[in-house]
Order: sequence, then C-alpha cells, then structure tokens
Amino acid sequence: MSGLPSSATVPDGGGGAPLPRHVAIIMDGNGRWAKQRHLPRIAGHRAGVDAVRRTIRAAAEIGIEALTLYAFSSENWRRPEEEVADLMGLLRYYIKREIAELDRNGVRLQLIGDWRRFAPDIVADLEEACARTAGNRRLDVAVALNYGAQDELVRAVRAIATEAQAGLLDPAAIDRTTIEERLDTRALPPLDLLIRTSGEERLSNFLLWQAAYAELMFVDTLWPDFDRAALERAVAEFARRERRYGGR
Ligand code: FPP
Repeated sequence: MSGLPSSATVPDGGGGAPLPRHVAIIMDGNGRWAKQRHLPRIAGHRAGVDAVRRTIRAAAEIGIEALTLYAFSSENWRRPEEEVADLMGLLRYYIKREIAELDRNGVRLQLIGDWRRFAPDIVADLEEACARTAGNRRLDVAVALNYGAQDELVRAVRAIATEAQAGLLDPAAIDRTTIEERLDTRALPPLDLLIRTSGEERLSNFLLWQAAYAELMFVDTLWPDFDRAALERAVAEFARRERRYGGR
C-alpha cells in the first residue's frame, strides 16, 4: 500500500457513492454473546466463525476489494490457556474446512502478523491455504494472526535498519513508502474503513499506521450477530462521510 488513501466508486447503479476498497474489522464481543446465553466462551467464538463466513460472503458480493479481520492479537496469548487452545482448535478447523469454499468464491487468503510463531501444523496449513488461493482476485481476505501493530512496526524498523546497515538503503532516503513497503499489509489497498463491534471504542493495537486516514466506526452489535445488513449499514455510513485527508 502506498500513496493517498483512495476509494472505489460503486460501479453499477450506486449513484457514485464511494465504496470502501479495504475494510478492517476488530471482531469483538464473542465472550459477551456467549455469557448472555449462559454458554461457555468457546460457543461465542464458534458463533464468531459463522459471522466470519457471512461477512466474507457479503464483502465479496458488495464488491469490497480487501477485508482484514483481527482474529488473534499478539496480546491474546495472555488469555487462559484453555481459551487459547480453543481458539487454536477453531483456527485449525477453519483452515481445513473453509478453504475450499473460499477458493471457490475467488478469495485470496493473506496473513498479517507474526503467524509463523504458531504451532508447526497450523503454519503448514496456513502456507498451503495461501498458496492454494494465491491466484484468486475477487476478494482479498487478510487474517491477522499473532498480530500487533506496534510489533509490525518494530519488525519493519528492524528490516529497514538491517538494510541500511548493509548499505542497501540510504537513511536520508527513508520516507513513508519505505515504511509501507515493509508493513505486513504491503500487498493490500489503503485502509478506508475500520469497524469495531461490541461497543468498545479502542484500536487495541490494530493497524495503527494504516488507520491514519481511515474512517473509524464503532458499532454496538456483538461480533457473532454481525451480518450482511450490519456490513451494508457501515458501507452506507462510509459513503455519507466526507473524507478530507487533512485538506479543507
Ligand atoms: C473477541 O471477542 C474475539 C476474539 C479474541 C477472537 C476472534 C475470533 C473469532 C471470531 C473466531 C476465529 C476466527 C477465525 C478466522 C478462525 P472476546 O472474546 O474478546 O469477547 P468479549 O470482549 O465479549 O469477552
């Protein structure tokens, strides 16, 4: 990603309403959804996977180019061991069961975060899933796994310093693009819209650099209840907002 954020325009009878090219979602509220139903937290995460499936389908149908989902943060390791194990189990299940359908629907899977630190079988499955869908172009789905924006920036700075030390990069020539090209999101369009569900109003270390000019939306819906209508509401609200990028 580089340059000023830009938005596509609805190609059909959308009346020229700007459609976000790249939408990112902090999928929050699984635990509260389960608690309201007197169910274990894992039931909320399972229902969260159903919402992931619905949202990917809706994003493709709406014509969004890229959807980034915060599935596991670098801070989530601090959760109880049992919940971390449950989330890893769901991830294993998801990659094995859903990848064929994602592939059929033209989804290209991308990953952001330090996901290579997951268990070797998960890393192998993720690599295979990315390779299998690499030729797809309908929708990029970037899943954030062991992701933290500060960690992403640390890794980018380390890469830049290593290149500078090796004499491959002139420190005086470092600009915004130098950094963007070393972020995990480098193959994705600029971020237009960032949604957080469940009523919390924080970025929680998600896409801090990329959110510089993104529209932020905090919705009360708990993630397992998120659906096509909720995504359409967010897209319609995006079209109503005036983006100025620091200009007038
Ligand atoms: C936040 O809810 C959600 C998570 C930490 C995990 C998100 C994971 C999924 C939606 C399922 C796995 C996804 C894939 C792609 C396999 P929370 O537990 O923090 O909810 P709470 O704030 O109500 O407790």
